[in-house]
Amino acid sequence: MRVLSGIQSSGKLHLGNYLGALKQHIELQAEHECFYFIANYHALTSVRDPEVLRARTLDVALDYLALGLDPERAALYRQTDLPEVCELMWILNCVTGKGLLERAVSYKDKLEKGMPASMGLFSYPVLQAADILIVQADLVPVGKDQVQHIEMTQDMAGYFNNTFCGDEPVLKRPEARLNKAFIVPGIDGQKMSKSYGNAIELFDTPKATRKRIMSIVTDSTPVEAPKDPTTCNVFAILSLMASEAEMDEWEKRYRAGGMGYGDVKKRVHELFEETFGPARERRAELEKDLDYVEDVLIAGVGKARAVARPLMEKVRAAAGLQKAEARD
Ligand code: ADP
Ligand code: TRP
Repeated sequence: MRVLSGIQSSGKLHLGNYLGALKQHIELQAEHECFYFIANYHALTSVRDPEVLRARTLDVALDYLALGLDPERAALYRQTDLPEVCELMWILNCVTGKGLLERAVSYKDKLEKGMPASMGLFSYPVLQAADILIVQADLVPVGKDQVQHIEMTQDMAGYFNNTFCGDEPVLKRPEARLNKAFIVPGIDGQKMSKSYGNAIELFDTPKATRKRIMSIVTDSTPVEAPKDPTTCNVFAILSLMASEAEMDEWEKRYRAGGMGYGDVKKRVHELFEETFGPARERRAELEKDLDYVEDVLIAGVGKARAVARPLMEKVRAAAGLQKAEARD
């Protein structure tokens, strides 16, 4: 199976991004042909500072590699290094009704948060569809909030195929793939998101990380009293990191009373450091060798281009678009 996913370079990655998306990206590389990219064109819908956009783009590459992406197995690239996605986006724009995009929940959410209604924001799902369709992906591992965009991608592939391809569809219909942790709560219990100020960043300093975890919001049930694990935010976060057997034990301790929330937070912190401590060190090493990171991105886009170019020739031919380059 061919797998593709992308992460916007619009902010520092957090535990929700990892448990909801990146973790499965890295697991999937063992068995599938994987393409992962840094969605910096998408990030331009919200980032306005060029220095910040450049820095965040590099950050996502470093994060992926530090967390275990193996460039031998998975192609990692910058979206801007595969500009054909913008061409495919235009073609999809021409077969996609405005009504489909008006129904996009994430567009409406972003407007509600006060983002200006740019054309980029409105057609964000068309660019996302182009990212996916250009490599003919079978599976798209994402968090739950992205499922509607994958369904829209399926629709857009259908519009193109029905309009131009007769009995031989050119664009392949992808499926979304969700992780167990499809919505990771933040320190305040709402969905963890960089825009809600409730995130636990993956690569903050050890001190800041500890402080953040210890500040996960809990109720004021006294230490001695029994506690309800089903309504506890720390329990919810811990259950995404610890084994089921361990969670059974914690559940008993909650119900028995005599245990403070501080103990559970300490365990979250311990498990966080077990996973992300070594990754933090790998990341620091990678930061010293940015030429290597650039080489990885160049090799990665080479693999993507090998699939994207012939596909675009078929797309152009189907739609009757000529291009000199398409002849050689
Ligand atoms: P944010 O909400 O912080 O802006 P993004 O929208 O950039 O995060 O999400 C990047 C990826 O991480 C997407 O696949 C998304 O589904 C996933 N993701 C983000 N936040 C969470 C969360 N709290 N729980 C599960 N997955 C998440
Ligand atoms: N919209 C995705 C997000 O905010 C990022 C993204 C862009 C993406 N293109 C994609 C995800 C293609 C999966 C496939 O997280």
